[in-house]
Amino acid sequence: MPKLFVTRETFPEVLQRLSKYYELEVWDRYQEPPYEVLLRKAKEADAFFSLLTDRIDCNLLSASRLRIVAQYAVGFDNIDVKCATEHGIYVTNTPGVLTEATAEHTWALILAVARRIVEADHFVRWGEWWRLSTAWHPLMLLGTELEGKTLGIVGLGRIGSRVAEIAKAFRMRVLYYDVERRKELEEKLGIEYKELDELLAVSDIVTLHTPLTPETRGLIGEERLRRMKRTALLINTARGAVVDTNALVKALREGWIAGAALDVFEREPLEPNHPLTALKNVVLTPHVASATRETRMRMAELVAENLIAFYEGREPPTLVNKEVVKKRAPGFG
Ligand code: GLV
Ligand code: GLV
Repeated sequence: MPKLFVTRETFPEVLQRLSKYYELEVWDRYQEPPYEVLLRKAKEADAFFSLLTDRIDCNLLSASRLRIVAQYAVGFDNIDVKCATEHGIYVTNTPGVLTEATAEHTWALILAVARRIVEADHFVRWGEWWRLSTAWHPLMLLGTELEGKTLGIVGLGRIGSRVAEIAKAFRMRVLYYDVERRKELEEKLGIEYKELDELLAVSDIVTLHTPLTPETRGLIGEERLRRMKRTALLINTARGAVVDTNALVKALREGWIAGAALDVFEREPLEPNHPLTALKNVVLTPHVASATRETRMRMAELVAENLIAFYEGREPPTLVNKEVVKKRAPGFG
């Protein structure tokens, strides 16, 4: 039986299913395996069930006996895919199954920052409301309404498109920017294409849905933050490094924009004394946009399907590096 190293605990029913095809070793600590452990396991294992916190670089891949890295995430910026392809190693991810959860979390963040939900909760919980000795005041905790406002979506993939659909229920105007213009979607979703700088200048809420690539790293930096409206909100459920964090902190402190809601950070976990945590106009969640029971289960099942297809000599359903097939057929034969 080929050996599969599973880099973190997951649903037992999925591991059970995989154990019919693979000899499993599961890393059972809450923290990720250190790089040295990954290096060692890569030399012993034929397959990895990996997470986005596992650094799978060319050094590891070229010294490994791995044939497939099956990632439990839609993003794969932790994996050197080009190097994997050169070595005939299959890389798979979990697209589609987490679209809804991520889009829903994006809306949870938009509503939370627009209506100051976290601040309001603290206001009640920590006694500020009580101390004011008034039940209601016309100017207490005023937020901003969504209806009629403009939402700017950066990256119109599966998640960005679903975010756009939901925006229509709030009767918002929706703009998008993508490296690829998507005319059919513009009509279907009732949205308009804008160049990035123009989108930033006119949107009331900007939400990021790009992968992290050399092109998107630092995409939203000081200059672009300065283009945004002073009343604008920035939402990031994509990857932290798409935004220049220092510039964002400055923008929030100095009021170039009004607020932000972030699920992802340049360095995760975010240190509790990071300047972002001192800002009231920011909502922070710990990279949990796909964290619903339903979605995490579907993701695990898709990882298993990829690994089983490979085992059976079939092309994995969500193969990232399609060119690898020319290099080497799937399977351990
Ligand atoms: C989460 O960030 C993912 O890429 O699935
Ligand atoms: C996310 O769901 C994606 O598949 O792009």
